Amino acid sequence: MKRIAVLTSGGDSPGMNTAIRAVVRGAIYNDMEVYGIKRGYEGLIAGDISEMNVSSVSDIIQRGGTVLHTARSAHFMESEGFKRATDMLENFEIEGLVVIGGDGSLNGALKLAKAGKAVVGLPGTIDNDLGYTDYTIGFDTSVNTVLSAISNIRDTSSSHERSTVIEVMGRNCGDIALHAALCGGAEAVLIPEIEPSINGLCRTLIQGKNRGKRHSIIIKAEGVKIPTQELADIITERTGLETKAVVLAYIQRGGAPTGRDRMLASQMGYKAVELLRDDVINRAVGIRGNEITHYDLEEALAMKREVNQGVSDLAEILSI
Ligand code: F6P
Repeated sequence: MKRIAVLTSGGDSPGMNTAIRAVVRGAIYNDMEVYGIKRGYEGLIAGDISEMNVSSVSDIIQRGGTVLHTARSAHFMESEGFKRATDMLENFEIEGLVVIGGDGSLNGALKLAKAGKAVVGLPGTIDNDLGYTDYTIGFDTSVNTVLSAISNIRDTSSSHERSTVIEVMGRNCGDIALHAALCGGAEAVLIPEIEPSINGLCRTLIQGKNRGKRHSIIIKAEGVKIPTQELADIITERTGLETKAVVLAYIQRGGAPTGRDRMLASQMGYKAVELLRDDVINRAVGIRGNEITHYDLEEALAMKREVNQGVSDLAEILSI
């Protein structure tokens, strides 16, 4: 392959820029032309496509967000929009497309693959919810952002002898919550994969209070279907501990990518180029152990993500 393109789609994640840089520079290194598509599949439909060069990706390795912008495109899922998208790939003579995004975006890539287009998917999402890869690009940064927020909240929580429920993102996946709870020393964590017991949670907090704990941090994943303020009110009522609610929201999606995310994004971005260069198509690039891996895109997206029971157990053991 000699002419490829790259797009970012869905919710942005820190490290997407690093991945774009790796694709662009990797392609140029391998004597390929490389095009950037703006606003994900929306820009593909609109033909918002332009050639990138070495300096198009200067000074972005450390920047959160995505210089290509991103969108969630409903239009692409409709037949007319999808047809325009495939026509654009032909008009621009794009031989292979690198899609950087989460579950929905990679399913969009699979749709293109089924229509005969050559694609490679990179897991760009803070959610860490793709079963075929141990880690997604942006997850580590997001966990670190949450950890820094927990530290700040812990200061005020401890000064006022209050408890705080902190809601974190992750869609239906509890990984951000689990990792942040273990690494942030939270007293309790609620994730969507494990049926929450509010009675059990309140018992834990009362036991802590009886042992002299004056403040607690409770991490709640957004996928747990109880509003965070409501949960804080229930805790206050049942335990007598004044409890505040904090929803961290979009701060978790921004910020400079950590070294770990930059490493992942650089390695995965370059792997995508190598695959397309060698005409190995319709793959999803991921990481297993310390190895950069790639699977058939359809098989990869069918792999179910299991909750990391070890991390969950350890978070509970160490929170006594
Ligand atoms: O997929 C990333 C994510 O941040 C999820 O954690 C969250 O549920 C969702 O995107 C929010 O999406 P939006 O940007 O459309 O509000």
